[in-house]
Amino acid sequence: MNPTLPFRKVAVLGAGTMGAQIAAHCANAGLSVDLLDIAPAAIGKPGAPNSLVEKAWAALSKMNPSPFFNDAAKSRVRLGNFDEHFDRIKDADLIIEAVVERLDVKRGLMERIEATASDAAVIGTNTSGIPIREIGEGRSEGFRKRLLGTHFFNPPRYLKLLELVPTADTDPAVVERVAQFGRVHLGKGIVVANDVPYFVGNRIGAHSMMVAIHQMLADGLAPEDVAERVAKKARIYASPGQQFGPGGAKGLRFNFATPRPILDQALARLGEAFADVRKSR
Ligand SMILES: NC(=O)c1ccc[n+]([C@@H]2O[C@H](COP(=O)([O-])OP(=O)(O)OC[C@H]3O[C@@H](n4cnc5c(N)ncnc54)[C@H](O)[C@@H]3O)[C@@H](O)[C@H]2O)c1
Repeated sequence: MNPTLPFRKVAVLGAGTMGAQIAAHCANAGLSVDLLDIAPAAIGKPGAPNSLVEKAWAALSKMNPSPFFNDAAKSRVRLGNFDEHFDRIKDADLIIEAVVERLDVKRGLMERIEATASDAAVIGTNTSGIPIREIGEGRSEGFRKRLLGTHFFNPPRYLKLLELVPTADTDPAVVERVAQFGRVHLGKGIVVANDVPYFVGNRIGAHSMMVAIHQMLADGLAPEDVAERVAKKARIYASPGQQFGPGGAKGLRFNFATPRPILDQALARLGEAFADVRKSR
C-alpha cells in the first residue's frame, strides 16, 4: 500500500456521538462521506430505517461549536442505514467503525465489512479500549493487514489527539498512510499506541479513576460525594452513574486525554480535594 495515497471516500459506521462528528470532520477535509447507522428494527425498536441517522444529523446541526467548517462540508455527507445502504461501503477507501462499545457487535460488523468492502479499503475502529486484535479475530489475514484502531477524542473536530493502534498483523504502510491523512488532512497529532486495553489516553484516565476509587473507599466516601465535592473542587470532569467494579456500584468517569504534566496537576488537585473533604467530615 502506498502510504502517501490520500483517502477520497470514507464510510463511517455508527452515527452516535463519535461517528457523526468523525463523519463531519472527514467532510471538513474534503472527503465524500457515507454516514450509516443501524435501522431501529435491527435492535427491536420502532421507527423508519433512517430515523437514527437522521436524528444524529439533526443533533450535529445544532452543536455549538459546530463540528462542520461550513455548509459545503455538510453537503458532502450522505446519510443511510445498515439495512438498505450497507453496500455503499464498497466504494470507500477508508471505513471507520464507531458503533457501541461491545466486542460482539464490533466483531459482527467487521465480518459484514469484510464481506462487502473493497479489498483495498483501510478499516479503522474507534473503540475506546477494546484490543484491536480481538476485534479482528476471525477475519482473514488480508483484512487484518488493513485493520487498525483509529481512536478519536470527543469532540473529534477540536481535540488534536488521534491514537493509531496497529496490531501485530497491521501493515506498517497502512499505519503510515492513516498517520499522514490524520496529520495533513484532519489536522491531528498522531500517537501510535500499543494494542493494550485502553491504549494511551484512556489508560491514563482509567488509572486516575482507579486512584480516585481507592481513595474514595479508603475515606469511606460515596461516589456522589466524590463527584459533587471532590471532583468539582479538583476541577476534574466526572460524571456519576458510570458502572464500575464488582457489585455494579455507581462509579465515576474521569475523562483524561491529557499530557502528563496536566494529569499530574489534576491528580495533585484531586489529592487536595480529598484531604479537604476528609477534614470537613
Ligand atoms: N463518546 C466518546 O467520548 C468516545 C470517545 C472515543 C471513542 N469512543 C468509542 O466510539 C464508539 C461509539 O461511541 P459513541 O460515544 O459514539 O456511542 P453512542 O452511544 O453515541 O453511539 C453508538 C452507536 O452505535 C449504534 N448501535 C447501538 N447498538 C448497536 C448494535 N447492536 N449494532 C450496531 N450498532 C449499534 C448506535 O445506533 C449509535 O450509532 C464506541 O466504541 C466508544 O467506546 C467514544
